[in-house]
Amino acid sequence: MRTPVVAGNWKMNNTLAEASALARGVAKGVSDIKGVTTVVCPPSVSLVPVSMALNGTNVFIGGQDVSSNAQGAYTGELSADMLFGLCTYVIVGHSERRSMHGEDDGTTAAKARASLAVGLRPIICVGESLEVRDSGDAAAFVASQVEGSLAGLSDVSQVEIAYEPVWAIGTGRAASPEIAQEMSSAIRGAVASLYSSEAAEGIAILYGGSVNADNAASYAASPDVDGALVGGASLDGEAFSRIVEAFAASD
Ligand code: 13P
Repeated sequence: MRTPVVAGNWKMNNTLAEASALARGVAKGVSDIKGVTTVVCPPSVSLVPVSMALNGTNVFIGGQDVSSNAQGAYTGELSADMLFGLCTYVIVGHSERRSMHGEDDGTTAAKARASLAVGLRPIICVGESLEVRDSGDAAAFVASQVEGSLAGLSDVSQVEIAYEPVWAIGTGRAASPEIAQEMSSAIRGAVASLYSSEAAEGIAILYGGSVNADNAASYAASPDVDGALVGGASLDGEAFSRIVEAFAASD
C-alpha cells in the first residue's frame, strides 16, 4: 500500500517570520493526522527557521530546487548535500523551472541523480501544456518526460513523481479527477515499462495544479493519485491541513 504524500510548494512567498508561523500552523493542523506524509517546501532562505519550527513534529521539509553539481563555482545554487542537512525531499523539474530557467528532462534527471546520491528524495515534476493537451498527445508526451526525467536512475524506490499539467498551475482550472487519474495511470505504466511492475506499484504519484481544500477529496479518491503537490492553497495552514486530511481519509 502506498502512503500518500501531500507537499506544499510555497514558491517565492513569505518572509522568514511568516514562513515560521505558517510552518507552526501546518504542524498544529496535521499533528493528529496519520497515514499521510506531509511535506512543506519553503524558499531556501527559510529552510533553517522552518526546520526549527518543525522540530519534533510529523511534518517533513523539502527544497524547491537543487543544483545538479556537487559543489563549486555555481553562484546562487544549493547542492544536494547542503539541502540534505535540512530536507528530506526536493522538488525537481517544476514547470516554472522548465519554462523560466530553461530546464529540460536532462537537467531534471541530473538533479534527481544528485539528490538520490546524498539521500534526498526527489519529487520529479512532469506535465503537459495546454497546446499538447489540445493536440491529444498528453499521455505520450508525459510518458516521454518521465523517461527523460528518470534517465540514469537505476532505482526509483526513493522517488516521487508529480503530475502537474501546466495549464492547471495557479489558474484555478484544476484538472478533473478523471484526467488526474488517467494521466497518473499513464505515468505508472511508463514506470512499469522502464523498471518493473513492482517499481510502478510502489511509486507515489502526486497531482498538482489548483488543488484546494474543496477538491482534494476527489483526487484522493482516484486509485492512481497518491497525494498532491499544492501551491497557492499551501500558503494557508488551515486549507493545507484539510488537504492532508482528505488524503488520510481516503487511505
Ligand atoms: P497551484 O496549487 O497554485 O496551482 O500550484 C501548483 C504547483 O505548481 C505546485 O508545485
